[in-house]
Amino acid sequence: MTEARGKFITVEGVEGVGKSTNISLIAELIREAGHEVVLTREPGGTQLAERVRDILLDKAEHGMTPMAELLLMFASRAQHVEELIQPALEQGKWVVCDRFTDSSYAYQGGGRDMGDEPVSALEELTLGEFRPDLTLILDLDVATGLGRATATTEADRFESEAQEFFEKVRAAFHRRAASSDRYRVIDASGTLEEVQTEIRALMSEVLR
Ligand code: TYD
Repeated sequence: MTEARGKFITVEGVEGVGKSTNISLIAELIREAGHEVVLTREPGGTQLAERVRDILLDKAEHGMTPMAELLLMFASRAQHVEELIQPALEQGKWVVCDRFTDSSYAYQGGGRDMGDEPVSALEELTLGEFRPDLTLILDLDVATGLGRATATTEADRFESEAQEFFEKVRAAFHRRAASSDRYRVIDASGTLEEVQTEIRALMSEVLR
């Protein structure tokens, strides 16, 4: 018997919204429902894509142009989708990815002021019709998120951006959320327990 194709779930949001903890919960719920789960992230997820990630996050690359940044995001994504994500889904595994193309719309399209067009052109070229089945956007006001993100680790190239950059990123996520019913916005300002209650409810719908 051939396994049904797995589902592809992406988790998005501005820095410091608590993606990691909530991604672990999502994976656990999927496993409890009897599916195999592959956890991955962008930029990254394969050897080549992780090497591209190192370049993208390196503060020494302060001269990187927005277009070079966008193309590197999609170079790593092309490899990641073909080498890891698609084969896993075909084997019936569920894939949970920490960020995906919506981050390109939000950070490069919004934060870097490139607009949606270059992102959607590359999305079509790289992914064709392939899209996540579900995208969770964890939403939190920017100042709170940045405070959380930079409290523990040294800021990378993106985290070193000004608050105004992240306001544009957050606004772009909101626009994405309004564009299709594959998005669910989760208010990440509550306690961890409140946020996780919301995620449990949502996942029980998806896993039904
Ligand atoms: P990461 O440390 O994973 O950030 P976080 O923990 O907040 O998820 O770093 C990834 C950075 O890359 C993050 O700042 C967002 C940025 N990014 C883009 O700008 N465009 C993209 O398409 C993706 C996938 C990530």
